[in-house]
Order: sequence, then C-alpha cells, then structure tokens
Amino acid sequence: MIKLSASVLSADFARLGADCREVLDAGADMIHFDVMDGHFVDNLSFGLPVLKGLRNALPEAYFDVHLMITHPLPYVKNFVDAGADCISFHAEAANSITATIASIKAYGCSAGLVINPTTPAEAVFPFLKDLALVLVMGVTPGHGGQAFRHESLDKLRAIRAECDRLGLSPYLSVDGGIKVDTTAPLCVEAGANLLVAGSAIFGAKDKVAAVRAFKALNG
Ligand code: DX5
Ligand code: ZN
Repeated sequence: MIKLSASVLSADFARLGADCREVLDAGADMIHFDVMDGHFVDNLSFGLPVLKGLRNALPEAYFDVHLMITHPLPYVKNFVDAGADCISFHAEAANSITATIASIKAYGCSAGLVINPTTPAEAVFPFLKDLALVLVMGVTPGHGGQAFRHESLDKLRAIRAECDRLGLSPYLSVDGGIKVDTTAPLCVEAGANLLVAGSAIFGAKDKVAAVRAFKALNG
C-alpha cells in the first residue's frame, strides 16, 4: 500500500486548515509539516504555534513533521506537545542521532531519520531497527517545486534491500520533486511506500483530483 503525505509548504497559508481538511478528505493519509530554521536550510517556514493550531483544527489528522533544523533534540518535546505523530530529523544535523531518536520515542512519538541527496544510504543503516520512517530527500531541502534528483532512486533501493535483509519495515518515504506521472512510479518501483508531495497537490488546480491520482498508484 502506497501512502501519501501532503506537504503544506505549498499550501495557501491564509486558508491552511481548510486546505489540509480538503486533501485529507480526498484521501491523503497524512499532513507533512516542514519546519525550517534558516540555518540547516537557507529558508524559514513555520513552527510550533502553527502545528498546534492545525492539531486543534484537525484532531484526527496524522502529522508527519519534518524538522530541517540544526539542533532537533531540544525541540522534540515541544513538537510532541504541539501535536506531532511522527518526528523526522536529518542525519546531517548536529545533535546525536541515537539520543534524538530515543527522545522522540520516549515521548510516545514515532521517529524518522532523513538524508539529503549528498548523504549516502548507509548513513541510516545503524538506526533502522529504531525507526518508524526513513526519508530520502529527492531535492536539496529548503524549497518546494524543485526537480527530483534521480540518484535518490538508488538510495531508496539500497535502504529497501537493507530493511528486507534485517526483516524491518519502516515507512520508506521520499520528499521533493514527486510528481504522480513521472517520479512517483519510479520511487515506488525503487521501494518507496510513503510519497511526500507539496506542489503536485497544493499547486494543482484541482487538489482533490491530484490526491486521487496519487492514491490510484495503488491500483
Ligand atoms: C522541501 C520540503 C518538501 C517540499 C516538497 O525541503 O521538505 O516537503 O514541500 O515540495 P515539492 O513536492 O513541491 O517538491
Ligand atoms: Zn519535507
């Protein structure tokens, strides 16, 4: 089963709650919430109060939080309290990966680890057994609407193979440049089972049709 996480980075922020409700009602499995600190990536986005507001507006939604911040560990509890269901952070971020995963799980949240296009697949291997989600970036993080980097496909294959070898089945997710007719099927073929899409959903004229097209990848 291929799942879809709708990235609100490309949503209309004047009507964020309504946009989220629309894509969830159309069949999106979760909301992808991109937090940027202007340091780990060269952009700023949104953070705790916005997540809290969305959580209050959408109590049933699943929030897949993607932290693009240099020091995730001190913020873990705040994001759990604000309503995160899964917190993913970057292997390239400065904090200890082991301690950050442990903290996320200690607060009862699912933990995810993300790698940039320039980071090898093997960087996540030592942590697979503790992860609910592995996220391979298809673009350099920081901005929506970029072109997918096809070298990410080999990393998806390598991580899928290692999960199979270890008998593990975390979500294998991919984020950035995911389009329903082109890159999405390639990522699924390479082993991804959770697609993150921002501009392909919120930039579409018909968001409902865009979500349904992604869900139709399940046949
Ligand atoms: C990029 C973000 C993505 C972004 C993807 O740094 O992590 O979640 O929204 O945007 P698209 O789907 O437009 O490439
Ligand atoms: Zn993201």
